[in-house]
Amino acid sequence: MGPGLGFSRLLLKLFLKTIRSFLVSSDVMWSDVWSDVRCRCTSRCQIRSYEYQIIFIFYLIAHTHTHTHTHTHTHAHTFYHQPGLYKSGSMYCTQCEAMGFRRITYYPDRPDNMAIFENIRIEANKESYPALLSNGNFVESGDVDEAPGRHFAVWSDPFPKPSYLFCVVAGSLGSIKDSYTTTSGKQVHLEIFSEKDNVNKLDYAMESLKRSMKWDEDKFGLEYDLGIYNIVAVNDFNMGAMENKGLNVFNTAYVLADPATATDTDYERVEGVIGHEYFHNWTGNRVTCRDWFQLTLKEGLTVFRDQEFSGDMGSNAVKRIEDVQSLRARQFAEDAGPMSHPIRPESYISMDNFYTATVYSKGAEIIRMYNTLLTEEGFRKGMDLYFERHDGQGVTCDDFRAAMADANDVDLDQFGLWYVGYYVFCIRVLHILYDTVYVPLCKRLGYTRLEHACLHALFLLSQFRYSTNGTPSITYSSEFDAESGVYKLTLSQSSNSGQPLHIPVSAGLIDKVTGQEVVPTTVLELKEGTQTFEFAGLKNDVIPSLLRQFSAPVKMVPSSGKVDEEALAFLAARDTDGFNRWEAGQRLYTSLCFQKLDGEMSDTTLNYVYDAFERTLADSDMDYSIKAYALTLPSEGTLAEEMSGAEVDPVALHKARGAVRVAIARKFQKELLSVYNDLTEAMSADKEFKVDAESVGRRRIRNTIMSYLTTIKETPEEQKVAAELATSHYNAATGMTDKMSALNALASMDGEGANARDEALQRFYDEANGDALVLNKWFSVQALADLPDALDRVKALTKHPDFTLSNPNRCRSLISAFTMNSSSFHAEDGEGYKFIAEATAEVDKINPQMSSRMGTSLIQWKKYGEKRANLMKGELKKLSEMKLSDDLFEVVNRGLK
Ligand code: BES
Ligand code: ZN
Repeated sequence: MGPGLGFSRLLLKLFLKTIRSFLVSSDVMWSDVWSDVRCRCTSRCQIRSYEYQIIFIFYLIAHTHTHTHTHTHTHAHTFYHQPGLYKSGSMYCTQCEAMGFRRITYYPDRPDNMAIFENIRIEANKESYPALLSNGNFVESGDVDEAPGRHFAVWSDPFPKPSYLFCVVAGSLGSIKDSYTTTSGKQVHLEIFSEKDNVNKLDYAMESLKRSMKWDEDKFGLEYDLGIYNIVAVNDFNMGAMENKGLNVFNTAYVLADPATATDTDYERVEGVIGHEYFHNWTGNRVTCRDWFQLTLKEGLTVFRDQEFSGDMGSNAVKRIEDVQSLRARQFAEDAGPMSHPIRPESYISMDNFYTATVYSKGAEIIRMYNTLLTEEGFRKGMDLYFERHDGQGVTCDDFRAAMADANDVDLDQFGLWYVGYYVFCIRVLHILYDTVYVPLCKRLGYTRLEHACLHALFLLSQFRYSTNGTPSITYSSEFDAESGVYKLTLSQSSNSGQPLHIPVSAGLIDKVTGQEVVPTTVLELKEGTQTFEFAGLKNDVIPSLLRQFSAPVKMVPSSGKVDEEALAFLAARDTDGFNRWEAGQRLYTSLCFQKLDGEMSDTTLNYVYDAFERTLADSDMDYSIKAYALTLPSEGTLAEEMSGAEVDPVALHKARGAVRVAIARKFQKELLSVYNDLTEAMSADKEFKVDAESVGRRRIRNTIMSYLTTIKETPEEQKVAAELATSHYNAATGMTDKMSALNALASMDGEGANARDEALQRFYDEANGDALVLNKWFSVQALADLPDALDRVKALTKHPDFTLSNPNRCRSLISAFTMNSSSFHAEDGEGYKFIAEATAEVDKINPQMSSRMGTSLIQWKKYGEKRANLMKGELKKLSEMKLSDDLFEVVNRGLK
């Protein structure tokens, strides 16, 4: 046998092994899914250098040029959620992103393989599964002649798509219907399906869908392309929602909403997620990712689009604050821990682990920077060119950047560093070295190519550990020359990327004497390590307002390392940029919390904070929501992030933040109560329950104030007063938002407030009347309660008849919520960690996607000091000795490093 034949044998073996692992034959049968897949992948089926793809090559060659007919018997995962085909309650559905399609049938399951899925025929029992849905347009349906009681439906999707967008749903469903006419006059049938009991909670989603369709036409000139847009709500879903072409699948928590069960935040989320999945139709589906490393190409961009949409529908200023709060608390923390990665990750064991805050939120910030650098108009030009060039293709983040650069005739090469990871960097350097060092050296010394390559590789590995992960920081200093009226601002950047990044820093200047803005918002393009910007013609010295609107995902710190509280107080009162006015207040609160953490609060800082708080509370022009956010301290997560480098004691931090809240509440108790009463009066005068910006804002500020007032509960008398206030708040509640706020306050009450707490919890449970989403809230509120025995309560709740680990929402509502209860989760005896590790191991047996997410709560041990670090590592170690799923294995292993 010649060597050629041996190699073919090896390939054949590999090929067969691959097929075997994809085909899960079993006796549990659903209807057959017949798919006549007409491949249109043409030249895009190229061999990529990523190792995991190589096993597909053999098939691809055969597949791309033929018309295949596969007949697969597939088995639905009935008891737990796994990618592929599974059962949620009595409904069958699929989840194919990222690599679920290969668990349904044999197929080159990679995103750049775009094919037309024609004649998807679904067959099932008519009575149990009256609704049979798939992607694209409905073709026909009818009874199956040869099998009484069975019926079929056929669907065809005319648009080429990657297999991760394939979807099939079968069930007994109710629905609401509507229609939308696009600008060019096309009629689109809209339908949202759910279990029959929930059909009355679908209206808000439908309205949101129509608003999304309109917004994408107005803002980006993008119209919907099919005649049907279907959405299905399912109870068991690991993520929020999925953008399958023409057939979105939603977690019930992100689509159902009515005043009795959903909070204002839930409503906002429904609108945002509906928008997000709709916007994917262009950014994700029509133009998709070449490979999964490019995930941020579709997710970062689509998050940016949904953020802009939500901002335009409500308030842009409010939305920006919320998005930055979440970025700081979640993404900054992720980027400072062992899961840190560039927005374009470079390696993974399980792709599901890389649907991260970094890929999503930081990815969206990077798209936002194009918008800031190129202006909204330039960004639109770039988007137009992107679609013109790449419609129907699977592309990379570099293709997107090239479209932005070419459409605006600017150089964005340096901007590309935001995407660069370690390997890409090495390969780049290797190329340069090859041309400049290797070739000339080879010529001179005659070394063999191999030796040189090895030397270079070794050299690189030891020298260049650069990758644009981690949060970059910018330091600033300034000087003012009174004589010439010139103000010089010096910015210096530092990051892991090894070379300076291209960072837009939006800045404005405010006259110190007059308080007037003398230089309006200007985008400073920081491209060097250190750069000085000059502003001439100034009468007086100025206070800079930097990083307005949070123009880049960086940390901004004064070069001196010392917070200038006077400047912050000045900006908190006068900045014309709403975001930075809020930001200045937050920084003052942060100073105060840190002082309390280290000992005592200084009078100076206290006075700055009191001044800002008092002014905000009394301001009658301010938007209610902005006011609520301006009165709220940074979250514990954000504070922990701000302590960069220093050891975090989460229990002490929780106490310190709590003490600052109590100090403020006591100082302004009278004023707070008076504003609270005014708001209550205004609210009760407004009989109709509304979810518009005004009503939402009013509830938000009133709830914020109630929360301050109920923190005053040191003495038994105070406990009584606090419990009474929260109970009356509960009684007067007109919707879920107020009810939840009251319950939140009550759940943390003890002593004289304990009875009120228990009564409220029981009452809330009874009123829930079995509604799954409301019960989730009931579990969460207890998991987050600020009580010394919170862990015991959580443990007891795991035995509650309504609790189950197998429903992802329910599991998250208790177990994952508990990891956010910092004083109990991080209790010094390590019991919190132990509980989470055990629950994680349990969940791993049934839902690896969820267990790996739960596992991330244990990997941040480096920042928590030796004692806690050892306890957390101990739990990780125990997990690592068990037989784990790939997903959890990857997290645990990264976590132990
Ligand atoms: N494509 C994702 C959903 C997804 C990710 C499904 C990974 C399966 C595996 C979808 O577009 C998405 O990003 N959903 C988000 C919500 C969104 C508003 C950020 C989610 O599910 O959390
Ligand atoms: Zn998405």
